[in-house]
Amino acid sequence: MRIAILGATGLVGTEMIRAIAASALPVTELIPVASSRSAGKEITFRGTPYRVVTPEVALEKKPHLALFSAGGEASRLYAPQFAQIRCKVIDNSSAWRKETDVPLIVPEVNIDQIKPHHHIIANPNCSTIQLVVVLNPLYKRFGFRRVIVSTYQSVSGSGVQGLQQLEEERQGEEAPTRCYPHRIDLNILPHGGDFLPDGTTTEETKLVFETRKILSADDIAISATVARVPVMYGHSESVNIEFNHPADPVLIRETLRQAPGIVIIDDPTNNRYPMPVDVAGRDEVFVGRIRKDASLSHAADLWIVADNLRKGAATNAVQIAVMMHQNGLIPSD
Ligand code: A2P
Repeated sequence: MRIAILGATGLVGTEMIRAIAASALPVTELIPVASSRSAGKEITFRGTPYRVVTPEVALEKKPHLALFSAGGEASRLYAPQFAQIRCKVIDNSSAWRKETDVPLIVPEVNIDQIKPHHHIIANPNCSTIQLVVVLNPLYKRFGFRRVIVSTYQSVSGSGVQGLQQLEEERQGEEAPTRCYPHRIDLNILPHGGDFLPDGTTTEETKLVFETRKILSADDIAISATVARVPVMYGHSESVNIEFNHPADPVLIRETLRQAPGIVIIDDPTNNRYPMPVDVAGRDEVFVGRIRKDASLSHAADLWIVADNLRKGAATNAVQIAVMMHQNGLIPSD
């Protein structure tokens, strides 16, 4: 299998290459792809060096599968061109997520929605992925009346530039790389993406829309607030759920314990709960602080943390690729 990685020099692209190397995918050639600025750079994969090429050169090599993480503009431009040569594209940008015939996939939830005619498969937003891995088993068992989520997102979610701004500010430099409209170190920005006329942000509307699409539940009431915090890796989420049916913390824990991809860390008396520093480099979604919300009859609060570059991006995309391969959905020569 020839696999192209568009955005191979970026944060998520690098993680994708690492995850593919660790997977059982039978890769005969890796095609690392980036802009012409990076063409010619060397990337080593399973002990073999490969040269970074431009998207145009990658198309000529006719990959069977392409993982994209080079931003929305590159996805809009190149995903149809790769699909045209019968290459399956798993796209990490938001460019295709809203299209009705583009499946938006979290393997633990809805891998069965990928059909043979789908050439572009969308990888959800990092905050959505960790949220739905936990919401899905609870939604199926108890039903939801309303979900309120507040995120605490790390700067690596903004790519290399987010990390650079934080590091420069920490070194006391007047950050020349302005990824955010304000300083991020020693600060919190209640702002992700762009503001919309109704006062919400694009990152907040993504979280709401994508959660409904993945759970196939257009009617769930969801309210989201996205904040950027001065953490390098790992997104955290405070989630309040009002259920249709009674769900106490014991039942919630039991349900989550049986669900795939979840690790429960919930031992408050010993100060044990999920934190970004502990989950960086891990592929699972971590849940803790599971407790009853005493202000409502069927409600609970949870705290969810995951590595945004791993399960929030690269791991999820590679898990989709592995399952597509197992299901015979990736073409061969
Ligand atoms: P390059 O390094 O050549 O700019 P991040 O999100 O971590 O900042 O990474 C973005 C990734 O997307 C990089 O690998 C970057 O390549 C790549 N990229 C950006 N624009 C394009 C484009 N038009 N074509 C191909 N790759 C692109």
